[in-house]
Order: sequence, then C-alpha cells, then structure tokens
Amino acid sequence: MSRCFVTRLFPDELLGPLRAEHELDVWPDHDAPPPRDELMAHAQEADGVLSMLTDRIDAALIDASPRLRAISNYAVGVDNVDLAAATARGIPVGHTPDVLTETTADLAFALMLASARRIVEGDAAVRAGRWPPWTPFGDLGHDVHGATLGIVGYGRIGQAVARRGAGFSMEVLHTRETDLDELLERSDFVSLHAPLNDSTRGMIGERELRLMKDTAILVNTARGPLVDTAALEKALQNGWIAGAGLDVTDPEPLPGDHPLLNAPNLTVVPHVGSATYRTRTAMAKLAVANLLAGLRGERMPACANPEVFGER
Ligand code: DGY
Repeated sequence: MSRCFVTRLFPDELLGPLRAEHELDVWPDHDAPPPRDELMAHAQEADGVLSMLTDRIDAALIDASPRLRAISNYAVGVDNVDLAAATARGIPVGHTPDVLTETTADLAFALMLASARRIVEGDAAVRAGRWPPWTPFGDLGHDVHGATLGIVGYGRIGQAVARRGAGFSMEVLHTRETDLDELLERSDFVSLHAPLNDSTRGMIGERELRLMKDTAILVNTARGPLVDTAALEKALQNGWIAGAGLDVTDPEPLPGDHPLLNAPNLTVVPHVGSATYRTRTAMAKLAVANLLAGLRGERMPACANPEVFGER
C-alpha cells in the first residue's frame, strides 16, 4: 500500500476513493497549510502528495522525497510546483483545469461590475449611515455594457470571460490577436488570465499601467505576482487608472495594514475565484482521480507535464 500526504483537511467523503487504495496522511488543519518543515517531513514519507496552491513543492522538496511518484495539485495553476524538477524525476503533476473555468470567469465579471459600479463602496456608505438624498451627479461609475474588454491570456478562463463580455455587448480584445500595449491602450477593462511563470511575473508594471486609460479598470483573478503591487498602488493613488478588482494579490494573503488597501477604488476579495460548493467539490474529485491514476502509473485525467507520459 502506498502512502499519500494530503496537505489540508478535506471532507472525508471526497478522500474515500484514495483511502480505499492507499494509506492516507491528512494534515489536520483546514485553514492553514503545513509549515515548511512539516511539509518536507510528511512529503519525505509519501508516494503521492495532494497539494494546495499554498504549498511550495519545489526542487528541494522533490529531491528530498525519494518515494514520491505522483503530485496532484488542487488548483489549475501549478506555479507552486517546480514542474521541471518533477518532470526530471518522471513524476506526473496533476491539476484541475476545466472544472473551475466558468466559476472563475463569473468572479472576474463580478469584480468588473463591482469595481465599475462601486458596489462595495456604496454598500459601506449605506451601512455607515451615509445615504444622502439622491443626487444627479453623485456616485457615478462606468458602464460595463458596450465597453471594450481586454483579456490578457486567452486560455480557458480568458475565453469564458470573453463570452460573458459578448453578452454585455462589449468589444473584446485579447492577447492572442492584439499586442499587449495596444490592448492596454484601447481597453476600458483589462482582465488578467495568464499563468504565472518567469515570462509573466510583473507583466503589469508602471509602464503598462501608464498605458491604460485613466477611466480603465484592472481585474486580476489569475495570480498576484502578474502585477507589480507598488506600481498598482501608485496607479490608483495618482489616478492613472480608475480602479482595480483583485481576487489575487502579491503578497498573498494581503495583510490588513498593507498600503495597497489605502488606495482608492480598489475592490479586493481573498482568492475565491473557484470558491463555490460545486466547483471546489469537482476540483477535489479531479485532484483525487489524478493522484489515483498517477500512483497506478496510468495517465492522469489532467496532467500539467504530460511529457512524463511521452506526450506533449
Ligand atoms: C487555481 O485553481 O489555480 C485557482 O487559483 C484556485 O482555484
């Protein structure tokens, strides 16, 4: 029997298929990841690891885990896993594409609408007792319908956001067809959907934010480090852009006293893009199926490094 380390407390019924074939070592905390030394120690004893995006599965961990034969990441993004190191050891890395596409696109659109129409600000004002009589030119925002939507990274989620944009009669630009600088200059909303890697880290910095319209809104539901946080803070403080809607930040979690939170027109939620009952359950089932397949030496249903199976 192989041993699997599951790095967060999962509902037991979702782990059932894994428990039927393997001995499970489940980290007992639902809310916090294992500290680094615990992650290393548990992975060293494991044949399979079911990891979260908060676990750094780097070359040092992989090297120190001689039994490791399969990694299954409970996320579509695999920037927390050193894919090259896993591939060099022939270890397949599972991830969870498709099942979260529409849910994450919903949240990107929710952030666009919330930022454009100042929903969070309005709610806070009402709760604070600040609801003055209706005014003709107060609390104005920006139209989403009919605006130009620029999508950076036109994969599954980017395309799902584009479909929503079409429903709002938006003109949709995306980086498969439009150069990034031109997209930034022309868009009223810029929504980020690129994976985080060496070529995308910091892709939205001061230069890019200055290219955007001063009426434009930046939405990030991908990964925080795509955006230079200090530059974004400056952009919001100085009115280079009109607002930002963030599901992901750098650093993440964003401390409650972080200076970015003092910037005007910022809507921020705590990395909940895929956080619906149905989608997180579907992700868990796929992550378990990936790990089971990897440990049986079979092709994973969704593998981020299919070259380990001789595929591209
Ligand atoms: C992912 O899957 O990569 C998201 O960030 C969390 O669902």
